[in-house]
This record gives sequence, structure tokens and C-alpha cells, in this order.
Amino acid sequence: MNINNQNNKGTVWGRRSTFVLAATGSAVGLGNIWKFPYVVGENGGGAFVLMYLVFIVLIGVPIMMAEVTLGRHGRTNPIHAVAKIVREGGASPFWKLIGWSGVLAGFLILSFYSVIAGWTLDYFSASANGQFVGLTGEGSGAAFEHLLASPWRLAVWHSVFMGMTVVVVGLGVIRGLEVGLRLIMPLLFVLLLMLLAYAASVGDFGAAWRFMFVFNPAGLSWGGASVALGHAFFTLSLAMGAMMAYGSYMPGGDSIGKMVFTVAALDTVVALIAGLAIFPIVFATPGLSAGEGPGLIFVSLPVAFGAMPAGVVFGTVFFALMVLAAWSSTISLLEPAVAYVTERFSMSRARANALIAGGAWLLGIGSVLSFNAWKDVSVLLGMNVFGFLDFFTQRVMLPLGGLLLAVFVGWVVRRELLHHEMKPRSEMLFSTWLWLLKYLCPAALLAILLAGVWDQFS
Ligand code: PHE
Repeated sequence: MNINNQNNKGTVWGRRSTFVLAATGSAVGLGNIWKFPYVVGENGGGAFVLMYLVFIVLIGVPIMMAEVTLGRHGRTNPIHAVAKIVREGGASPFWKLIGWSGVLAGFLILSFYSVIAGWTLDYFSASANGQFVGLTGEGSGAAFEHLLASPWRLAVWHSVFMGMTVVVVGLGVIRGLEVGLRLIMPLLFVLLLMLLAYAASVGDFGAAWRFMFVFNPAGLSWGGASVALGHAFFTLSLAMGAMMAYGSYMPGGDSIGKMVFTVAALDTVVALIAGLAIFPIVFATPGLSAGEGPGLIFVSLPVAFGAMPAGVVFGTVFFALMVLAAWSSTISLLEPAVAYVTERFSMSRARANALIAGGAWLLGIGSVLSFNAWKDVSVLLGMNVFGFLDFFTQRVMLPLGGLLLAVFVGWVVRRELLHHEMKPRSEMLFSTWLWLLKYLCPAALLAILLAGVWDQFS
């Protein structure tokens, strides 16, 4: 085992459970707490939740297993891991694209994810200062717009968030990621359960439950399916190098299947609990509804907390939860690129970290300005910097990366290698997994890729 910070090759997590913790930290993020509730709200509730669950199981889990398997076999950063497997199997160099596209997507997403994560820091401090008390819907909307219109405020919070990420990644896999995530994740779960208990006692829990779990067939639609599949992918941190990098630190004997199922289940449970913590509060506040879109968290929720008993405390707890969730995700977005650069250029981790994070920070300033000064500056077809990065990563790179992964692992990588790495307990499950990767995953991913691009340009 190598615990030398200069080079990650051969590093493994110090404790067996760290993979589950770290991968869950990557998966649980703004996607679960901000995006999931609002897309459920926009897409009418129960039917959407059901489609999402089906996609997690049939598409998300098999692709995550594929990614972790590649990472663990390669035992190094995603770019070198894929290259090694391509070389060993005598496959076409074309497939190396998978590693590159994952690391690049992670880097691009980090640049704007950190900006949005910065909003949660701003809200955390606003809530702690009692600024939500007695807030009206209009006041809350104006406060959010005011934040977005202030490039300096956005840039400062973005910088703080990037700094928090750099500290953890800079300390290395064991002393930084493992130690940090072992503190962040349990705290995150405690805060989440506190909020659930709070929502159940002061909010309209029954209405929230019915909204999320009563199946209404009228809610099934192609548009909803495409959003649900795209979100299933994003929330599990797939095709971004993150799972591959974390898998490369997984000790040899561990069962990949079991671990991946645990991570997917925890991620799903957190998203569902987040919904069950948010909707009861929203439904119990006059004038608020579920279908608010992105403003559900940043506009509606402060109004609700401002009107609820002990809202200052629980509003602050809520935004602290978002900060932690986003933090454990940005760590996993930065790590793959830093691991690659340290290994490829034999550079110190500190230097690689400064270089990559500095680049992502700078690009993030483009996203900061996309909410104000550069709002109408079009990079491509009317999209500003943020709009373009958001579209290109989530609608193009993610499904495309997933498609390549599924085809590569399903059709190109030797079955014996996969069997050896997975050590499946059941041959039937192993064959089912391969079947899903060969047929269902590519078809579904091709469909969301086309639907996403079509949606943008039509
Ligand atoms: N899964 C995270 C979320 O739901 C986002 C993320 C994607 C994090 C990729 C890391 C890597 O917010």
C-alpha cells in the first residue's frame, strides 16, 4: 500500500467502509437536496418518482458497477485506468476517450457546481443571522435576485467553496478524503434526520407523502422520463470519473456489487427523505406550491422557514446540510483530475491541486458572470457560459460517456476480466448485469442523448 501523497498509484482506503461513505458523499449532493425535490414538483410527483426509481435500478446501478470495476482493475486515475484496460485487451485506442471524457466532465462540472454551492453558504449565513424571519414571497424572490445580480458576492462564496474543496483534496486520499468524509457524512445524516423529524412535526406530512408516493398514471410522459433518467445519472455521479477514481482506491476483496447497491440505495433514500423534509414545510405554508422549479429551495423554503416555529434553527440546519452535501461532491469532482495530473506529470499533489482547482475556479467566474454582467453573452446558440456548460456536461457528455462505458464494458472488455474483478456470487446476476450493459443501457442512453439535444435545439 502506498500512502505517499505525491502519487496515488496503488493507494487504498484505510478502512473497508470508506468506499461506501466516499461514493455516497459524491452521489449525495445538490442533486438530491435541491434538484430532486424541484423536478419531482415540476413533473407532478408519484409517477415521476417511480420512473426515477426504475432507472436507478436498471441503468444507474449497472453503469456504476461498470465504472467501479474499471477503476479497481486499473488501480489508478480514470485516464490511466481505462488506457491500461484498453492496452491489456488490445482494444481500439478510441475507448480511451472514456477516461478523458470523465475527467474533463468532472472538471467542467466542478467549475459551476462550486458557484451554486456558494449560494448555499450565503443562505446558511443569512439564515443564521435571522434574515428569513417574516420574509414574504416577494421579499424572498427579490433577495435571491439580488444575490444573483451581485458578481462580487457570488465570486467570494464560490472562492470560499473552492477553497474548502482544495483543503481536503490537498491533504491526500487518506489524510484528506478519508478523514474528511468520515466526519462530513455522519453529520450530514444526522442533520437530515433532524429535518425530517421537524417537517413531520410542524408541516403537512400527509400531503407530502401522497404527493410523492401516490402513483398517478397521467404523470407519465416522455419528457418526464428523459428528465428522470438524466437525473438518475447525475445524482449517482456517473460518467464523471468520480466513481472510477473512488473505485480505484477500493481494497481488492470487496464485493463491488454489494457496495454499489448500498451507495445507490443510500443516495435514493437521501433524495426521498429530502423530499419528505421539504414538501411538508412547503405545503403547510399558505401561498407556496411544489411546482416552483429551481426557486423551490432558494425562494420558497426561506419563506416557509421564516414563518415556522424554530425556523431560524432549522433553516440554518437545512442550509448546513446543503453545504455538507455539496462539499462531499465537489471533493469527488476535483480528485480524479488531481490524481491524473500528479501521476502523469510526477507533480506534487499540492501543485496539481492548485493548478486544477485554479483552472476550475477561473472558469467558474464565467458562470458567476452568467447570472449578471454576461447574462446575455452567447457562447453557443444563445447559451451563456453557465447555460452552455450546464447543457454540454449534463445533456451531452454525461449520456455520451455513459453510452461509451456501457458499450465498452458490455461488448469490448473480456468477460473473464470482469468476472475476476466482480467475483459475483450469482452467475445469473452477473449475466443479467452484462445483458443490461449490452442492450438496455445503450438504448436508453442513446434515447436521452437525442432527446436532450433535440429539446435544446427545437
Ligand atoms: N451526484 C452529485 C449530486 O447529486 C453531483 C455530482 C456529479 C458529484 C458528479 C460528483 C460527480 O449533486
